[in-house]
Amino acid sequence: MSQQPIGFLDSGVGGLTTFKAALQQLPNENTIYVADEGHLPYGPRPAAEVKHFVWQIVSFLLDKDIKLLVVACNTATAAALPALQAKLAIPVVGVIAPGAQAAARRTTNNKIGVIATEGTIKSAAYQAALREINPNFVITPLATPDFVTLVEAGRYQDPTIQPIITQTLQPFRDAHVDTLIMGCTHFPLLRPFIQNAVGNEVSLIDAGVAAVDSVVALLDHYHLNNYDHHQPSHEFYTTGTTAHFDKLAQQWLSQPTLHSQHLNLGSD
Ligand code: DGL
Repeated sequence: MSQQPIGFLDSGVGGLTTFKAALQQLPNENTIYVADEGHLPYGPRPAAEVKHFVWQIVSFLLDKDIKLLVVACNTATAAALPALQAKLAIPVVGVIAPGAQAAARRTTNNKIGVIATEGTIKSAAYQAALREINPNFVITPLATPDFVTLVEAGRYQDPTIQPIITQTLQPFRDAHVDTLIMGCTHFPLLRPFIQNAVGNEVSLIDAGVAAVDSVVALLDHYHLNNYDHHQPSHEFYTTGTTAHFDKLAQQWLSQPTLHSQHLNLGSD
C-alpha cells in the first residue's frame, strides 16, 4: 500500500484522456498531472528536445515523490520511454506498446491505421511495435498534427471541423483498415468526428486508455495501490496559461472547481 501520487505528463490537455480513464479504474489514487503547454506542440520538435523537456518534468515529479510515472503522450513515449525505464527506480508506463497490443487484439483483417504526431510517426515506434507482434500486419501510418491544434484551441465539440477530419482520414478508407490507433492522447477528444470520418465498422483504439491496464497491473505487482478511501488529492500543473488549461480540463473531466498551478521548468 502506498499513498504516494501517480505522476502523469503530456504536452497539454491530451493526457487527460488517459488520466480520466485512470481515475475511473483507480479512484483512490492521489495524482499529479503536468501539461507542458509552454512547449506545445511536441510533435514537430526533434526527439532530443522532447526528451530534454520530459526529463525536466520528471525531475519535478520525482521531487513530488511519485510512485509511478505515466508518460501520457505518444510523442514523449517515442522519444524518451526507453531512457526513462532504464534510469528511473519507479515503474514507468508509456502509451505505445499498450496501444499496439490493443490494436493487434482487435483487428481481423490485419490492416491497421495509425494517426499520431509527426514525431511519433517519424520514430516508427508504432510500426515497430505492431510488426514485432505480427510481421504480416499491413500498417498505414499518418501524421495528423492539425488535430492537436484543434483540441488545444478548444474546438473538440465544434461540428464545423468534421469536413477537415473526414478529408484528412480518407487514406484509411482507401486502405480498408478495420482498426485505427489514435496514437496521440489528444485525439480521443475528437473521437466522434474520427469515427464518423472512417465509418462505424472501424474500431478506434485509444492508446492512452489501453495503457491504464498496464498501470493497474503494475500497481498490483509492486503492491503500490492506495487502499485509503479518503478523498484523493489531484494536483494539476501547466507550463502555459492556467486559465487555458483549466477551461479545457474542467470541461473534459467535468470538474468545474479544478484549478491548475503554473509551473516554471527553468531555462530551456
Ligand atoms: N499528446 C501528445 C501525444 O500523445 C502530443 C501532442 C503534441 O504534439 O504536443 O503525442
